Amino acid sequence: AEMGRAFVYVILGGGVAAGYAALEFSRKGISPGDLCIISEESVVPYERPALSKGFLLPEAPARLPSFHTCVGANDERLTPKWYREHGIELVLGTRVRSVDVRRKTLLTATGETISYKILIVATGARALKLEEFGVKGSEAENVCYLRNVADATRLVNVMQSCVGGNAVVIGGGYIGMECAASLVINKINVTVVFPEAHCMARLFTPKIAQYYEDYYKSKGVKFVKGTVLSSFETNSEGKVTAVTLRDGTRLPADMVVVGIGIRANTSLFDDQLTLEKGGIKVNGRLQTSNSSVYAVGDVAAFPVKIFNEIRRLEHVDSARKSARHAVAAIMEPNKTGDFDYLPFFYSRVFTLSWQFYGDNVGEAVHFGDFSDKTFGAYWVYKGQITGSFLEGCSKEEYEAIAKLTRLRPMVQDLDELAKQGLEFALKN
Ligand code: FDA
Ligand code: NAD
Repeated sequence: AEMGRAFVYVILGGGVAAGYAALEFSRKGISPGDLCIISEESVVPYERPALSKGFLLPEAPARLPSFHTCVGANDERLTPKWYREHGIELVLGTRVRSVDVRRKTLLTATGETISYKILIVATGARALKLEEFGVKGSEAENVCYLRNVADATRLVNVMQSCVGGNAVVIGGGYIGMECAASLVINKINVTVVFPEAHCMARLFTPKIAQYYEDYYKSKGVKFVKGTVLSSFETNSEGKVTAVTLRDGTRLPADMVVVGIGIRANTSLFDDQLTLEKGGIKVNGRLQTSNSSVYAVGDVAAFPVKIFNEIRRLEHVDSARKSARHAVAAIMEPNKTGDFDYLPFFYSRVFTLSWQFYGDNVGEAVHFGDFSDKTFGAYWVYKGQITGSFLEGCSKEEYEAIAKLTRLRPMVQDLDELAKQGLEFALKN
């Protein structure tokens, strides 16, 4: 193997968490040559959420370099020039093949050995493939997954060749729902297929889901629920022409978008670090079972203090904040306490926009006008508000439910809570 380079800090992965960690390192004061980022992607870190939203717009779509991190948090946009000026070494387009946490070295696919004193694992996650559920054919050129900018570029090309045609979206989660909206905006007829009784089943109540499904239907989207696909029909060129569902339905398709969940990229560490909940287990300092190795973002399973539980979250806010916290813990160990994070999820589709804070456990108490544009829900668990959801509101109103959820007030009368609705958060 080639002789290797040595760094004080290495970030493995070049996604959202890597970008926010780099900015935090520069602010805490690193020297040129201290930090290296190794990424399989060929571009510097960017705000991944753009890929299912602005990137897919038919008019004035978002393109790099406009959405490099950290613009998503209204912070500095880190271009390749920024990394150069800060003496941060970028090893892009390069997959790390193995890591030896005992010897503190990484081996890249190009055969280079890179050593570190401290490693931050920010490998994120990969999209699950239909093949993993026993369905063949998802390598066809008009079947799209969506995880990185290469996938998104391919999706745009396929979409542009299908205007006026039919798309089948597999999965009713975040990717499925956001891509379905983007496909509609691109004048493609959309059918969304998923196994659950309603969309966004991990988060939405049936009542919340109904609102969004009705809205999508008003835009022409069809839903086929409670079933999964069983096979693809392909033509002689290997293109998918239709999908067949387990319930026997056959849907003609000019293209297919698949969003059936993710797996955290832990495999380099499966035998070397403690894992939990499908991720790399860390403590409140984002430190793994090896004290020289930290893990952040989608790949990390960290203690969520307010729930007194280890969770692995798959959302951008948690990637940003866990990355910053890990760097603070590394650079200012005495000033940095345990990560105290309130889970925050959001989505934007068409002209709709919602935010969620906390945990969706216990009883859901809906409020507001579901026939209009603004409504929400609180989740009450063991007499306390533990989660809150809001659609169509202002920044101040979202901040109010965030604050309320962090306070976790006791509530006695759920009917009264429903009646007060958003007012309850605003007056607290
Ligand atoms: P991320 O996946 O961003 O980065 C991982 C990096 O590691 C990648 O660059 C990858 O190539 C690299 N890597 C992995 N293994 C490697 C190896 N062996 N060698 C080298 N490099 C390796 N969330 C949200 O809250 N709101 C939203 O609206 C959206 N929208 C959204 C849209 C789309 C299309 C996706 C795919 C995801 C979202 N998300 C989201 C989720 C959010 O983007 C996600 O939580 C963060 O990107 C996680 O950041 P990480 O840095 O942990 O992983
Ligand atoms: P997801 O977990 O949100 O949804 C997966 C969906 O796949 C489920 O809702 C279910 O309907 C469906 N499904 C599961 N097994 C299936 C099967 N065998 N056949 C057919 N359908 C099946 O995952 P996703 O939508 O793929 O999103 C991927 C990742 O990207 C997640 O981590 C998500 O958090 C992230 N993301 C987040 C946002 C956001 O926060 N706004 C937006 C896009 C993506």
